[in-house]
Amino acid sequence: MGKNVNKSISSIDSFWSLFLLILSRVVQLFWPNSARQVPDRPDTVVYYRNSIKNMEEVIETIEEVSQKKNVFLIPQIHESRLYYNKVKQAEAYPAWMPPTWHITSADEAAKKLEEIDFPFVSKSHEGRRSINVRLVKNREEALKEIEASFFGEGLPMEFGKRQKGYVFWQEFLPDNPYDWRVTVIAKKYAYAIRRQNRKDIPLASGSGFLEYHADLNAELEKLLSYAVKFARENNCLLCAVDVLRDRKGRMVICEAECTWGRGGVDYKGRIFEFKDGKWIPTVYTLDRQYDLIAKAIIDGEFESAALHS
Ligand SMILES: Nc1ncnc2c1ncn2[C@@H]1O[C@H](COP(=O)(O)OP(=O)(O)OP(=O)(O)O)[C@@H](O)[C@H]1O
Ligand SMILES: [Mg+2]
Repeated sequence: MGKNVNKSISSIDSFWSLFLLILSRVVQLFWPNSARQVPDRPDTVVYYRNSIKNMEEVIETIEEVSQKKNVFLIPQIHESRLYYNKVKQAEAYPAWMPPTWHITSADEAAKKLEEIDFPFVSKSHEGRRSINVRLVKNREEALKEIEASFFGEGLPMEFGKRQKGYVFWQEFLPDNPYDWRVTVIAKKYAYAIRRQNRKDIPLASGSGFLEYHADLNAELEKLLSYAVKFARENNCLLCAVDVLRDRKGRMVICEAECTWGRGGVDYKGRIFEFKDGKWIPTVYTLDRQYDLIAKAIIDGEFESAALHS
């Protein structure tokens, strides 16, 4: 579908793009509360933003929408299923991640302690801002995790939830004073935010120490290319990856979400485009990322990216 072709775009919770689309007057809009409101027509694009508050509900609706053969979904259904679930991400992207173990029995977890180095990272299957991420420093702390998760009240999580019946452990990658959150849109636009670690613990997400980039440099270009490679190889139309360096200095991904929160609207920094084999700045700053997404929808860029994955 080319530029200015009339499309009906169904949108779930995407205020900024809706605003632009209304202004642009080239699309028909729906705001579906349920899959029933989305017409099964080839000119229908559904763009939505995942919401962690009612994730299960959102996924249920999206699963239903994905049954409609003619509708084009952004993100795609396979991306949504992985969003906000680190266990599923580790299963889907093992080659990109540090060594990770999802263990569902206490015996097996105890056995793993014989070979794993301390400290290691322990995570709940869902979470954000490092709230459900723990650094396990020694055997005693690890045994407490096993006790709580398999025999006790569970490990405390955000929103009063509890992690029970499994542990999700990951090799700790030292010497990372920061991580990079790289967002890739339609496999060709990207930006990176450098997040310095918290003062008390070497975890970056949620620290609030953020750096944005308006200009390209060699390190940034390598990082953006790595994230685009991830998006292309895994057929992700909207993704945000958290990049660290492993012990050999290679880039790895400690988390790979398939969309992002709305917080980005206040950010400065620039979105870059990979064009003709090189990175160039776009006119879009991060506070206009939803405008870029809307434009890319209208221009059919997501659809061509999906076709040429
Ligand atoms: N294997 C690891 N080794 C070292 N540090 C890590 C590792 N995994 C995660 N971290 C650090 O912990 C932080 C939080 O981890 P992760 O991204 O997995 O969880 P999150 O709370 O879901 O984050 P987000 O808010 O980005 O969604 C990362 O930003 C990174 O700084
Ligand atoms: Mg993260």
